Amino acid sequence: MVDVILGLQWGDEGKGKIVDFFAKNYDVIARFQGGPNAGHTLYVGDKKIVLHQIPSGIFHEDKTNLIGSGVVLDAITLKKECDAVASFGVDYKKNLFISERTHLILPTHRALDKASELSKGDGKIGSTLKGIGPAYMDKTGRNGLRVGDLLDKNFTTQYIKLRMKHQRLLDNFNFQEDITSWEEEFFEALDFLRDLKIVNGEYFINEKIAAGNRVLAEGAQGSMLDVDFGTFPYVTSSSTITAGVCSGLGIAPQKIKEVIGITKAYCTRVGSGPFPTELMDETGDFLRNAGNEFGSTTGRPRRCGWIDLIALQFACMINGVTQIVMTKADILDGLDELKVCNSYLINGEEKNYIPFQMNRVKIDPQFKSFEGWKTDISAINNYDTMPAEMKTYIDYLNNFIKVPVKYISNGPGREQIVSV
Ligand code: GDP
Ligand code: IMO
Ligand code: MG
Repeated sequence: MVDVILGLQWGDEGKGKIVDFFAKNYDVIARFQGGPNAGHTLYVGDKKIVLHQIPSGIFHEDKTNLIGSGVVLDAITLKKECDAVASFGVDYKKNLFISERTHLILPTHRALDKASELSKGDGKIGSTLKGIGPAYMDKTGRNGLRVGDLLDKNFTTQYIKLRMKHQRLLDNFNFQEDITSWEEEFFEALDFLRDLKIVNGEYFINEKIAAGNRVLAEGAQGSMLDVDFGTFPYVTSSSTITAGVCSGLGIAPQKIKEVIGITKAYCTRVGSGPFPTELMDETGDFLRNAGNEFGSTTGRPRRCGWIDLIALQFACMINGVTQIVMTKADILDGLDELKVCNSYLINGEEKNYIPFQMNRVKIDPQFKSFEGWKTDISAINNYDTMPAEMKTYIDYLNNFIKVPVKYISNGPGREQIVSV
């Protein structure tokens, strides 16, 4: 049996915290896509840690954590992250497994990401520059190198061949930076990676499922960043939605049971691209400051706005979401008035769907207003004692989306979560 946790917006919904919270109920936690563009924050005691490659179940003793085939892996980031989790007493040599089909991010992928973004000028995607796009391009272009290739004696030859191909592309971009030091670090990290538990991911996970183990699939990014259904071309390069669990882990759709979708009580986006409910005013600044909305991976300020129920409904539809976890409700504590977008006005007509190319039409979001609760909810641990204004807000969402909000997260701490 497999349950899924994934983001319903443009990423950074609080997946790390929620996976860490639910991990106690599972035996295996598996990342199915994305790479070090992800930054999943969790707290161990009062210490904050941001995970980029390792699944967010790693702080639970005796849980298996799998980096699945659909992930793209930066060995340098992984090595640093293993050191970081080891300083918390985590035995990653025992609990971390990596699929041999996982594609490797090479230093030249990072360079190509940078060169490609620079060449786009104002049209840039706002990539995290971690090499994600070029690594997935080499996967679908059938050129990439995988973790399993590391165990092949011809690895270096294969590497040099691909490196030369990349160099020609970099020359076309007139990319001048010297990446020799990245390469040195890369080869050191590959030695480290070879010593970890490299497994046949699809047999590994299916045998676990057959033996009755409970699997939690952890998504990265968010549904609106999905390469097929997100706000293309301002998206990432992987399948961030439930379908990505099947292709990223090698499991059949019938194995998936609960799909737990995470949304913030408002909305953020980092990087370029359409964001209909974005607030360019002091309310936007308030959300950014109160919510500490600065990227976990790049430190960039996140764009902030009201929750968008048209986008949320769309995300629930394509993912088959069965329950919603709403995070960062506490950030709304200080506001007199809250708004939710419940339709789009496009060319004077009211629409309730996501248009083909969001950035080619002018969307005028329509809002419904709610009274703020103006109460510090961060210490409340029972939904009954939540303010009435919050219950009105949640009831409206439930009715609109037709998927129940089952949990409300009211602070970054491990225990700050209330069941509805
Ligand atoms: P992820 O990428 O989806 O895992 O999310 P990030 O870790 O990038 O960003 C979420 C941020 O919000 C992190 O700094 C979390 O510590 C924080 N966070 C998560 N849930 C809550 C919450 O309910 N309230 C508050 N105040 N912070 C939260
Ligand atoms: P988590 O898992 C938020 C965004 C980037 C950029 C676009 C493409 O922490 O939620 P990429 O590096 O993938 O080529 O960037 O996607 N992006 C994210 N935004 N959270 C993330 O991950 C993201 N990963 C990528 O900002 O707009
Ligand atoms: Mg993040």
